[in-house]
Amino acid sequence: MNELRSARILAIETSCDETACAVIENGRSLLASTVASQMDIHARYGGVFPEVASRQHVLSVIPVVEQTLVQSNLALKDMDAIAVTRGPGLAGSLVVGMNMAKGLALGMSLPLVGVNHLEGHIYSSWIYNAGESVPPEPQFPLMALLVSGGHTELNLMTDHLTYEPLGSTLDDAAGEAFDKVARLLGLAYPGGPAVQRAAESGDPNRFKFPRARLESAYDFSFSGLKTAVLYEVNAWKKTGKSLPVEDLAASFQAAVVDALFKKTMQAARDFNAKEILVAGGVSANRALRQAFQSQSEFKVHIPAFSLCTDNAAMIAAAGYYRYALGHVSALDIDVEPTWPLS
Ligand code: KG4
Ligand code: ZN
Repeated sequence: MNELRSARILAIETSCDETACAVIENGRSLLASTVASQMDIHARYGGVFPEVASRQHVLSVIPVVEQTLVQSNLALKDMDAIAVTRGPGLAGSLVVGMNMAKGLALGMSLPLVGVNHLEGHIYSSWIYNAGESVPPEPQFPLMALLVSGGHTELNLMTDHLTYEPLGSTLDDAAGEAFDKVARLLGLAYPGGPAVQRAAESGDPNRFKFPRARLESAYDFSFSGLKTAVLYEVNAWKKTGKSLPVEDLAASFQAAVVDALFKKTMQAARDFNAKEILVAGGVSANRALRQAFQSQSEFKVHIPAFSLCTDNAAMIAAAGYYRYALGHVSALDIDVEPTWPLS
């Protein structure tokens, strides 16, 4: 990609249960970021309640934008474009951020850039805090593993914004499997962090959970694993003894990490990738990070913890690369709740 123009982007993200806003300069330098989480509200329902999420975004979106501007020491007139998550996500939630972004773009006569949430996760690895030393940029060809609550896929990136899909999950996403298994084990929502915490004091070798054998080397499947955990839980309950939650969590987590790590490494070798990138909420998982960080065959980019789960900094980063290439959206765009990455 040629030298990109300099620009400041304000981004809004409301695809699920986080209301977020951020300002980024030149796609990488993070000036301000605010995330208002609704986690405590949805925990009561054991998962995200879509209508409650939309209405909470309505309440939070203006204060979150205002707070971000204050934090950045900038005003709307200092922005070059407004980026917003267009999808995938919950329709009613996306609409709130989209309308806010359209209002700002219209009111300030700024271009609007609709961003794919998954592309945002990938671009988390380009971000650093303004004023800190500049980390090396991910290098192409790049093998990108995307692991979130709704998606698990491997893409080969040969350049900015260019994705060759190699494989994806045939059933549950990795994050979804964590959330479902957490429920089976009686752990609180959100499941990923709860399973990780339980797993820390568990034995990952106690239960030999199955690793799916699939036709394509780059596809994933986690529903068989989830069912295996369910059978084990049911069998255990029949004995009347207390459930070995920690060992079950550790053995389940080990099986997920094993599949994600091995397939990504194999794909990186097969496609002569220079580097590996891991993104999405599940990239916050310590065992997964550890697996990638303890090998030396490939340099691996994993975002800082605060950028793994949903945030607007990643939307601003991806929005910058779109904007710099002239990918500006019309003001009458709709949200895209099922928008694929490529
Ligand atoms: O990317 P994300 O914040 O939202 C989506 O775009 O889906 O990902 C959320 C998913 C949830 O399924 C959550 O349980 C999982 O990421 N997650 C984790 C961890 N932190 C979040 N899974 C495993 N270990 C974690 N530490
Ligand atoms: Zn996400």
